Amino acid sequence: MKVGNLDNWWMPFTANSAFKASPSPRMVVRSSGVHYYSEDGREIVDAMGGLMSTPCGHSRPEIAAAVAKQLGELAFVVPFNVGHPAAFELAERLATIAPAGLKYSFFVNSGSEAADSAMKIALAYHHKRGESNRTRFVSRERAYHGVNFGGMAIGGIQPNRDAYGIGLPGVVHMRHTWSEENRFTLGQPAAGAELAEDLTRFCTLLGGHNIAACIVEPVAGSTGVLVPPVGYLQRLREICDQQGILLIFDEVITGFGRVGENFAAQRFGVVPDMMTIAKGLTNSAIPMGAVLVSEKIYNVLTDEKRHKGIELFHGYTYSGHPAACAAALAVLDIFERDQLVQRARDAEPILQNAVHALSELEVVTDVRGIGMMAGVDLQPLDTPGARGLQVLQKLYDAGVMVKMTGDTILLGPALVMEPETIKLMVSRIGNVLSDCQTI
Ligand SMILES: Cc1ncc(COP(=O)(O)O)c(C=O)c1O
Repeated sequence: MKVGNLDNWWMPFTANSAFKASPSPRMVVRSSGVHYYSEDGREIVDAMGGLMSTPCGHSRPEIAAAVAKQLGELAFVVPFNVGHPAAFELAERLATIAPAGLKYSFFVNSGSEAADSAMKIALAYHHKRGESNRTRFVSRERAYHGVNFGGMAIGGIQPNRDAYGIGLPGVVHMRHTWSEENRFTLGQPAAGAELAEDLTRFCTLLGGHNIAACIVEPVAGSTGVLVPPVGYLQRLREICDQQGILLIFDEVITGFGRVGENFAAQRFGVVPDMMTIAKGLTNSAIPMGAVLVSEKIYNVLTDEKRHKGIELFHGYTYSGHPAACAAALAVLDIFERDQLVQRARDAEPILQNAVHALSELEVVTDVRGIGMMAGVDLQPLDTPGARGLQVLQKLYDAGVMVKMTGDTILLGPALVMEPETIKLMVSRIGNVLSDCQTI
């Protein structure tokens, strides 16, 4: 397939002018397993697994068949006061793999919508309980919760906020968990649990009784795979419990086997009150996200004694879209049949040891990782991000697609990637990085 005019698609999070002016813009026309295929017929290893969003590998025929069947039977029904079987079945199956008590699914269409929906559910929950004063949110520097107004406001990435005004009032950010002393740690760093006390400080400053929720990614993904220090998430849970604050985990990246359990909450042994998910939910074949909600919250919001009629004035035309539900059900079947969570557990040491071997290279200033996700910091050139763009292109030319965040390489391959391919992928990265000049 030859692509012609590049003018009219305004590409997201893209340097459009540079991309369109390039003599060889990166153009992918096919995908299969853990590979993309470029317009000029090259096979490229997908080191990012989509955007850590295709745990089952690309273009799975089982998912395509399930979606096609659903589209032929019931392509759409409005989800307001009308149900359909696939959405109920999916919610029931998610309840069986979710951390204890997170029994209820509110379906949305992306990770960004999941973040904003979780924030609204938190506010509605406190409102219904007569605590309308709880309007503040505590999140974290270097957080990514998508691009809608709520997610942007709780996000902690300056360029994503810069052009868009003040965001939401009442949002404060704890410090991120990256530290110099924890550089090159394999798995969870030992130092840093005390960073959770930032939440205590906000409770003291703002009044814990005014805070609706604390929201964090268990492992901050987009800003470079920042693994939580031992005890950090446990301490956040304790403080939230003491102060009546809801704890929300954004598991858009860490869900669906990425860290060797169904969800990071299970790996770290901390159960939040709500969890946002997307990406792996449908293997990204069809857009879909969800907020998984605890019984405590659902029961308050749907209690007939408190309220009759519609309980939550929130939802999307495409909430629980039949085609997305069919894709997600097919994904859950693949996870079960192919034992994908176990495969992730088995592959973790292979990926982590290979990536940590890059620490030897002069241009590498930190390596971190857990499960099937890793971040590699590179020494910046004069302009932050310039090294990243250069390395992105060189890796693409060498047959590896990575995601760069500034000067950090993100790796999060499909959970089905074979050990030999993991080693090949990292050795290609090593070759490119070996050629980088340091300052
Ligand atoms: C942790 C996290 N939350 C939310 C999002 C936003 O998801 P989406 O791009 O589907 O809106 C992302 C996307 O990368 C993410 O990593």
